[in-house]
Amino acid sequence: MRKKARRIGVLTGGGDCPGLNAVIRAVVKSANNIGWTVIGIKKGFEGLMDPKNDRVLETQDISGILNVGGTILGTTNRGDPFKYAVTKNGKTTYIDRSDAAIKGFKKLGLDALVCIGGDGTLTIAKQLADKGIPLVGVPKTIDNDLSATVITFGFDTAVSTATEALDKLHSTAESHQRVMVVEVMGRYAGWIALNSGIAGGADVILIPEIPFNMDKVCEKVNARYKMKRNFCIVVAAEGAKPKGAGMFTKDSATPGRVEVLLGGIAEWVAKEIHNRTGRETRSLVLGHLQRGGNPTTFDRLLATRFGAAAIRTLRENKFGEMVCLRPPQVISVPLIEAIGKMKSVPLDSDEIITGRNMGISFGD
Ligand code: F6P
Repeated sequence: MRKKARRIGVLTGGGDCPGLNAVIRAVVKSANNIGWTVIGIKKGFEGLMDPKNDRVLETQDISGILNVGGTILGTTNRGDPFKYAVTKNGKTTYIDRSDAAIKGFKKLGLDALVCIGGDGTLTIAKQLADKGIPLVGVPKTIDNDLSATVITFGFDTAVSTATEALDKLHSTAESHQRVMVVEVMGRYAGWIALNSGIAGGADVILIPEIPFNMDKVCEKVNARYKMKRNFCIVVAAEGAKPKGAGMFTKDSATPGRVEVLLGGIAEWVAKEIHNRTGRETRSLVLGHLQRGGNPTTFDRLLATRFGAAAIRTLRENKFGEMVCLRPPQVISVPLIEAIGKMKSVPLDSDEIITGRNMGISFGD
């Protein structure tokens, strides 16, 4: 007997990253191939709570988006249905609007949902699954900090962007005999800094997993100049911190944003190096450049595999799960296994050992 054709909703939540469009395309193509219809939900869970611009994604909507950064559906860091921010007279309070999300799901006539996002989005997805919505999660983040999957799409593109920046900085650093301090993203994990730092030939890499000592950083800087290598490249993860101190944070310019924004480390480290060594220093923040641009071949492929696997998972009636890469397979695991456990850089990882073998200082 033929199974009933299904109507699936797809949404992207949290910060964007290269490869989201490739997932959306794969979801639509593989669903259409088995006769299912896909509805694109705009602006993450906001669009589920207040369905307005949601519509069937047709072939022309997904044509040409495989290699395009961002998300055609839009996304937001706000709009958690379970902790929805309401600002009145300058005061923000949080209310539970999860019933509105359930209502939106029914109003759209959906049989299931594909939620593409990072830790925050997947946590919301888990809560909605617990309330009875049949759904599957697809992990994304440039930070690569989700423990259930070996790697997330977006990470490879971000590392490539950061590495290219480090390549470019070498010539100007050398011409001016300067110390360049580059701040990269990654939140509480040092994956982007570590990988781009090694690939981009950095002399010092600072990551959240290894609190640093400025004396050690300056030792490395001085050693470089003593060797007549008259410039130095320092890569600092936004979440790295000096020993005994906290992370560098910024005020969020987004009302209702729950997570703290990190930033400011590069400027601080550059100043400290100048004050302690007398060397000329400059700092720069790569910021959201790392989230933009075309996904690399690796990310397109992984995103496509994840999108197709999401539909396979729903077809097998496996709900409340998240697809993940366990080479050589893409499998699915219960969302509970996927959320809440951050993947930090292990101190005995091959990348750290390689870095130390290469003479890179981690400031410890
Ligand atoms: O989680 C992805 C990420 O880009 C982090 O690396 C960074 O700390 C954060 O998002 C920035 O968030 P926003 O886009 O809200 O500035």
